[in-house]
Amino acid sequence: MSAPVPTRCLPEAISLDAAIDALARGGLVAFPTETVYGLGADASDPRAIARIYEAKGRPSNNPLIAHVDGLAMAEAQGLSGAARALAEALWPGPLTIVVPASADCVVHPDARAGLPTVALRCPAHPFARAMIAGLGRPVVAPSANRSGYVSPTRVEHVLADLDGRIELIVDGGRSAVGLESTVVSVGPAGARLLRPGFVLRETVARILDAPVPDLAGDADAPLSPGRLASHYAPRTPVRLDADAVAPDEVLLDFGDAPIAGQASARARITLSARGDLNEACATLYEALRDADALNARAIAVAPIPDTGLGAALRDRLTRAAAR
Ligand code: TXA
Ligand code: MG
Repeated sequence: MSAPVPTRCLPEAISLDAAIDALARGGLVAFPTETVYGLGADASDPRAIARIYEAKGRPSNNPLIAHVDGLAMAEAQGLSGAARALAEALWPGPLTIVVPASADCVVHPDARAGLPTVALRCPAHPFARAMIAGLGRPVVAPSANRSGYVSPTRVEHVLADLDGRIELIVDGGRSAVGLESTVVSVGPAGARLLRPGFVLRETVARILDAPVPDLAGDADAPLSPGRLASHYAPRTPVRLDADAVAPDEVLLDFGDAPIAGQASARARITLSARGDLNEACATLYEALRDADALNARAIAVAPIPDTGLGAALRDRLTRAAAR
């Protein structure tokens, strides 16, 4: 393992120059996006990319998303055709589009796990876009957490996982969306959903005027190792659709339906009292980290519907529950 580096944490309002400078020197910068905090490096720098994998403990066969400041930078990496139409409709925003990389794609093969494709996302967060524009190249960034653990939605989460491993953390407050981007691949055989997220499958299908099936079961599927069953997982076991909770369990509550045993549960953390899926996305990862810190026997999650944003929430919770 590399020697520890001093990690600075600065408020967003005074960080832009320091962030651009650190990236240009091959440093690692955790920065706010509208989804979760990203761990950024210059997409063209193989040494900085290697440091991301080391800092996170991430398997090298799991490719990174290249973040761009707009359509022109994305087109230079390979965005075209139907993928471009999708980007035009939904960027900037929480949608990642996987396309064949262009011949002049500057995103280093090490960040793409050697694949012929590149994952592109233009974040809605203004700081993220200004930082990428200032560097003048894409910024590769996985979520700024240790591999397999819960994604960070506050700087405290980034510090807990990566202090001493990265140069700079930009404090932009709580992440607004709270769940990672939707990942869609667009190729000759059409579009496939690789990871559900805030942008709904229905929305993508409407814009493309074509169905967007899951990648699973597709023989020609590109690798997407981020779809490993266990991911986003706290140390404490998680169980879904709980209709009762035991005294040594933490309840993650949703809506106002009573759950048997809730009054005597170890703790009760509410994702959204009014049963609002947007709010539950924004609070989920902080709730999982807080629940994990209580060292309870298990985290029992109240039933969450499967419709709309509920699909993305249930996807993350299912992976959190997988062992
Ligand atoms: O919201 C987000 O997407 C956040 C913020 C920081 O932008 N980033 C994020 O990155 O969630 P990460 O590394 O945790 O997830 C990236 C996902 C993984 O599932 C990875 O396998 C997939 O994107 N991916 C990246 N490049 C790919 C490619 N060329 N083909 C297929 N899947 C790819
Ligand atoms: Mg991640």
